[in-house]
Formats: sequence, C-alpha cells, structure tokens
Amino acid sequence: MNNTNQKKYLVVTWGCQMNEHDSEKIEGILESLGYISTSDKEEADLIIYNTCLVRENAELKVYGNLGELKRIKRENPNLIIAVCGCMMQKEDVRKVIKEKYSHVDIIFGTHNIHKLPELIEDHDQKMNMLVDVWNDSKEIIEDLPTKRKYDFKAFINIMYGCNNFCTYCIVPYTRGREKSREPKDILKEAKRLSEQGYKEITLLGQNVNSYGKNLEEKVSFAELLYMLNDVEGIERIRFMTSHPKDLSEDLIDEMTNCDKVCNHLHLPFQSGSDRILKKMNRKYTKRQYLTLVDKIRKAIPDIAITTDIIVGFPGETEEDFEDTIEVVKHSKFDSAFTFLYSIREGTPAAKDKDQIPDDIKHTRFNRLLEVLKEISLERNKNLIGKEVKVLVEEISKNDSTKLSGRTDTNKLIHFEGNESLIGSIVNVKVNTAKTWTLEGEIIE
Ligand code: 5AD
Ligand code: SF4
Repeated sequence: MNNTNQKKYLVVTWGCQMNEHDSEKIEGILESLGYISTSDKEEADLIIYNTCLVRENAELKVYGNLGELKRIKRENPNLIIAVCGCMMQKEDVRKVIKEKYSHVDIIFGTHNIHKLPELIEDHDQKMNMLVDVWNDSKEIIEDLPTKRKYDFKAFINIMYGCNNFCTYCIVPYTRGREKSREPKDILKEAKRLSEQGYKEITLLGQNVNSYGKNLEEKVSFAELLYMLNDVEGIERIRFMTSHPKDLSEDLIDEMTNCDKVCNHLHLPFQSGSDRILKKMNRKYTKRQYLTLVDKIRKAIPDIAITTDIIVGFPGETEEDFEDTIEVVKHSKFDSAFTFLYSIREGTPAAKDKDQIPDDIKHTRFNRLLEVLKEISLERNKNLIGKEVKVLVEEISKNDSTKLSGRTDTNKLIHFEGNESLIGSIVNVKVNTAKTWTLEGEIIE
C-alpha cells in the first residue's frame, strides 16, 4: 500500500497508566481504520488529546496545547482535532472548549472510546463540533484493538472506575463507578499476550484490592493473581493501585506464593495524620497503615514499597505534616510520588475554607522530598553487590551506550549490553546506587 495516501494520526496522552492504556486502545482503533501514526502535528490528519484532570497543572497543560493547535488548524483546515479523557467528563470543561477552543472537532469521554469510528464518520458528514460524553457505563467493551507501546510488557485493565470518593479526588466523577472485568476475559487477554511473546503484565485498576466485588460470581484479587500466575510464558505480574483499606492477608500470602508476582507494592498513604486521613475519607489510621507495612515487610523482606503523598491538604497543620514525615521514615519507601494538594472543583475538599497557602505547601513539599531522597538512596545502596533480575526495556535515554531495564522491585537500572537483549530478562550485578536509579553490569 502507498503510505503517502494513508491518513496520519497523532495521539498525545496526559495522566496515569489508565490513560496511557486507553490511548493504546485509541491508537489500535485508528490503525484498524487504516490510519498510520506520525509524531509531527503539522502532517497529521487527526490529532487526539487524551486529557487528565487529577491536578490543575495537568489541566492547564492541555489548554496550552489546544491553543497551539489553532494555528495548525488554520493552515490545515482538513485536520480533525479530538479531545477525550477525564477532563471531558466535566460539563464546565466542555463549556470552556466550546466557547474558547472552537477549532476542536470532536469531544468524547472515558466511557465511549469504542465509539470513535462512528464519531469520526459522523463528523465527516456534519462538519460541526461533535460532543458525545457518557456519564457512566455499566458495560465493559471487550476485544478492542490495541496498539501496545512495547512488545514484551503490557497493561491489562482488570477493573474500571472507583467507589471510594476520597474527598480530594476527581477520579470517581470522571471514571464512574467501580466495575470488574470477568476473570475469564482477563485470562484470555493474558494468554493471548503470552502467545505473542509478552513477558510482563501490569494489572490496572484504581483500587485493585477491591477487584471482583461486583461480579456475579465473586472472585477476589488474590484469587485472580493465583489464576494469572499459571499463564505459561508470562514471567512477571505487576499491579496498581492498592488501597490500604482493602489490602487483604490473602493478597500478602499470594504475593509470597506466586513466583511471578513482582516484589513491589504501590501503596498510597496520602497523609500520616489521622485527622487529615479522616477528612480525606481514606478509612484507615496512621497506626493501621504502619501495621500493614510492618506485616508486608515481615512476610516479604525484600519487597519494594512505593507510595503517593499529598502535601497541603486543607487544614493540614505543622503537626499533621510531621505525622506524614514520621510515616515516611518508618515505612522506608523505595520511592514516592509527591503532590501539592490541588483544588478540584466538584470534590468535597474544594469547598473547604481552610486552604493552605502556596508558600507553606511548597516548603513542606521540599522538606518531604529531602527525607524521601535520603531513604531512597539508602534503600538503593542496600542493593550494591547484589544480583538482580532485570527485564531489559530500551536503550538508556541519557546514555546511548547503555541499556536500561527494571528490576523485579521496579527499580530503573542502567548497564552495558547489546540492543538485542531488549525484551529479555537478564542477571545484573548492582555496582552503583543513586537516589532514583541503579547502575550495574550483566553477569552470566
Ligand atoms: N491534589 C493533589 N494530588 C491528588 N491526587 C489525587 N487527587 C489529587 C489532588 N486533588 C494524587 C493522589 C493519588 C494520585 C494518583 O494523585 O496522591 O494517589
Ligand atoms: Fe481517587 Fe481515592 Fe479512588 Fe484513588 S481510591 S482514584 S485517590 S477516589
């Protein structure tokens, strides 16, 4: 086929792994329609922005990028611009797009990605801005074509939505109520991936520990892991995100029993203060979280635990913040995602009068980072001299003479080696530890 006649698409993604995986499906759908990918906005026939609403800066970036497309659309009036993802689930955002970004052609949401072919066709006929956003959906659409970013590791959705309504979080409003995929469908996808040569799967859900609760035939997350552990060819199983309130003894047992389940747990604690945790609607206390961490470390001594922390939630005092630091010091996280609290209109915490001034938020954020850095470095230094199994992922971004990959504990490690090793699992001896990365050498 003559490629020059084929229409070209560009999908740009902001936000979490859930969004990244949605974009893989969007790209799969577009390629099944005959589109080919391009990284050049100027030559694209279709540009899709998959947006994130979790914090204000993600939202602002999307508006900035949309503004830039005005000129490109002027120069190429046939270009179709579509925006989708979490931002589009909010009516006030759609209103802004309609009023200020009238060069956008199609708006769709998180629940109707599978409708993309119809939306493009409808738009081609009507040529005016098309808006199709669903508030929620009970249906799970199986077997969407997917263009995966890698050919050795893959995301698998095991559930969609969230029922937790943490008071700072917009996700339950953009992703709808929790619904789990049937285990047979998840297993089918894992088996197909293994047949295609995939070695690692990452199970995705906002709260994987409550997997299976709404299925007719109830299956727990621990049971699902057990089933997946039997899929031949798959060598590593990862999952995220775990909510501390739902993490069961069974899961800890399964993690020790299932040899393929990686020694890594992402366990967001958000705040160390009981008062703030209550205001956040997290449903656990500092003590309960610390006890859980102790239990996990006792059962799986070499596990890496990572977390999410919010600084400056409304009403957070110096004392509350010190509780957060205490949890960090006690838990010895391998790494953490730290966030400044960001007001999300429509969530309960946004209405709180007791918002924390930016300068205090920033000072606390930097203090927290210092503590985290010291602990990460200490954790990484413990690995010096040890041999670790690494899935080789790519040529190192900062040094083209090196390869980079991930340990079982999800640490990024750089080492010398042949490009042909990408996609395979190798043994690496750790020689140097930095705060965020390791360096090593391949051993036979
Ligand atoms: N402000 C700051 N961080 C937030 N998160 C979610 N909502 C907000 C918000 N309004 C963080 C939480 C969550 C992660 C994905 O994003 O820490 O675990
Ligand atoms: Fe947001 Fe809480 Fe649901 Fe996570 S568990 S997506 S933080 S509401």
